[in-house]
Amino acid sequence: MWIEGLVIERRDWNDKLFSLKIKVDIGDFKAGQFIKLSQVIDDKRIGRAYSLVNPPGCGYVEVLAVAVEEGLLSPNLQALKVGDVIDVATKASGFMTLDELPTDEAKGKHLWFLATGTAVGPFISMMDTCEPWETYERLVLAYGVRKVEDLAYLEQLKGYEARYPEQFKLVLSVTREQLNGALTSRIPDAISSGELESKAGLRLNPEESQVMICGNPEMITASQQVLKERGLTKNLRRAPGQVTVERYW
Ligand SMILES: Cc1cc2nc3c(=O)[nH]c(=O)nc-3n(C[C@H](O)[C@H](O)[C@H](O)COP(=O)(O)OP(=O)(O)OC[C@H]3O[C@@H](n4cnc5c(N)ncnc54)[C@H](O)[C@@H]3O)c2cc1C
Ligand SMILES: NC(=O)c1ccc[n+]([C@@H]2O[C@H](COP(=O)([O-])OP(=O)(O)OC[C@H]3O[C@@H](n4cnc5c(N)ncnc54)[C@H](OP(=O)(O)O)[C@@H]3O)[C@@H](O)[C@H]2O)c1
Repeated sequence: MWIEGLVIERRDWNDKLFSLKIKVDIGDFKAGQFIKLSQVIDDKRIGRAYSLVNPPGCGYVEVLAVAVEEGLLSPNLQALKVGDVIDVATKASGFMTLDELPTDEAKGKHLWFLATGTAVGPFISMMDTCEPWETYERLVLAYGVRKVEDLAYLEQLKGYEARYPEQFKLVLSVTREQLNGALTSRIPDAISSGELESKAGLRLNPEESQVMICGNPEMITASQQVLKERGLTKNLRRAPGQVTVERYW
């Protein structure tokens, strides 16, 4: 169930937020899936889920993580150095993937990614594949963080804007500081007020939109509520809808 991975690169975005690149062979996976990282701590095996930031086919896995105060595993992950080993589950899993979205008339033409904190990772993995760009006319990423220093992979995100200027819109929400051009309100509030749509230049509606939401569970619940008021319902295999979610805790 566990295999040893070797840390081959790390990047610190701030004193709590970091990325690890781990050399390990977990076989095939789908963009949007997660792996489990694990250590034995005080004779007890502790495993936690981490979304993959890299697209399939790289020969390594990359994760973006925050060290949670008094967390059991994440502070130990933050302490890992290049050359250290960490146990990785042999298989990725998870259903927040593009192939879970409707393909028929309920497909929609605009794909919205709503992320807080480390949950920007799985959307980067998806955007590093051809699939969303070939399937949807427009893509929006709303990425919410507390402070400017919490914005990870910003250069890469701006790179998608440069590469797909007509197709992609990045909307940042920085809630505890001012950043030029960014929203200051939380994502669900920005949906309610219409600010998010105004920044994106698109409307959220059941006819045109598919929405994937990931990260803070309270943000997800609040976003689902405001989207429901707009007629967007949960996407289920037996009943296609517009909203697909993954809660991080
Ligand atoms: C499907 C899935 C994917 C996940 N992907 C990621 C990921 O890519 N990166 C990542 O950092 N975490 C991710 N998590 C959370 C991760 O699995 C752990 O819960 C987290 O690292 C804390 O573990 P811990 O043992 O240090 O803390 P614990 O002792 O387990 O404490 C858990 C508490 O930490 C807080 N918390 C957990 N995760 C986060 C987070 N990401 N941001 C802010 N607060 C958090 C919550 O308050 C939670 O109740 C994911 C969780 C799930 C279920
Ligand atoms: N990021 C840091 O600088 C930092 C520092 C120390 C510790 N940590 C650790 O990391 C954890 C959280 O870090 P994080 O900043 O990545 O995640 P977060 O607390 O989930 O915040 C990310 C974004 O989500 C918003 N948000 C929070 N609750 C929401 C809700 N109920 N509805 C809608 N939006 C909501 C936040 O807005 P608000 O700003 O309005 O809350 C912020 O814009 C903490 O529990 C702590 O353990 C982080």
